Amino acid sequence: MRHFLDLHTTDAGELRAMIDAARAMKTARAGRPRGALDDDQPLSGRMVALIFEKPSTRTRISFDMGVRQMGGQTMVLSGADMQLGHGETIADTARVLSRYVDLIMLRTFEEATLHEMAEHASVPVINGLTNRSHPCQIMADILTYEEHRGPIGGRKVVWSGDGNNVCASFLHAAGQFGFDFTFTGPPTLDPEPGFVAEARAKGVRVEIERDPMRAVAGADLVVTDTWVSMHDPQSARERRHNQLRPYQVTEALMAAAKPDALFMHCLPAHRDEEATSAVMDGPHSVIFDEAENRLHAQKAILRWCLGV
Ligand code: CP
Ligand code: NVA
Repeated sequence: MRHFLDLHTTDAGELRAMIDAARAMKTARAGRPRGALDDDQPLSGRMVALIFEKPSTRTRISFDMGVRQMGGQTMVLSGADMQLGHGETIADTARVLSRYVDLIMLRTFEEATLHEMAEHASVPVINGLTNRSHPCQIMADILTYEEHRGPIGGRKVVWSGDGNNVCASFLHAAGQFGFDFTFTGPPTLDPEPGFVAEARAKGVRVEIERDPMRAVAGADLVVTDTWVSMHDPQSARERRHNQLRPYQVTEALMAAAKPDALFMHCLPAHRDEEATSAVMDGPHSVIFDEAENRLHAQKAILRWCLGV
């Protein structure tokens, strides 16, 4: 059974193969209408459940489109509308769903929910974001970086802002794809020390630098994300904004990185908070390529999970 739960727990060679497959699939259908079917139909006869316990635009639509392009069918479900949201256990939900569908994609709060689903499902489970990680996003980001600038191995990636779930998956990717990673943000919002140690143990350089200008020196890629994630209490909003304001990605910050540095944001963004509109719409930005590449990267993940 191949679950896609996290980058640091998936074999590095398999991750590389998925990126290469995604790129090939993207090239193969270049220029066709979005709804056109791929030449091969590897998901023919397959049903995929897409379950959301949190809002989503990109994850929902890109998974739905990807499955359809490959000849499969989807059902998009809200956790709140299922018995899952009314006391049925995750284990029982997993067993029941496994009798109906061929794969489950889950966006949820606690990581434990995802792992319990995977443990009790007899079909593959994909992590569509938890409070702790967002691996599908970073697969799309690796694909995006490499399309623009070539292999990411040995490059310097700088995360400016909250050491959140998306940051965690970037750290996981650093160890697996072999790039250096610098975090710049306030100490209270550091990435998990265990993830830092694990990436370092894989031989990559991971630094924590409180001064954002110093952090981005020599950066090939600058990344940020929202200051308040979906699982963060709204009561923390003002404090987080005050703490994170010095880490806003501005044109001045981008100018301190390498001249050809890229800027990424997984979206949705709060414009002129974590990054200025000038950066988001500027020459370094590849944010909409990242969004598109969710589709292509996840098609490769789906095929890997199903072995097709
Ligand atoms: N980046 C991302 O996962 O976006 P959605 O929340 O819209 O799915
Ligand atoms: N860190 C954000 C990512 C959204 C795609 C969140 O969890 O809300």
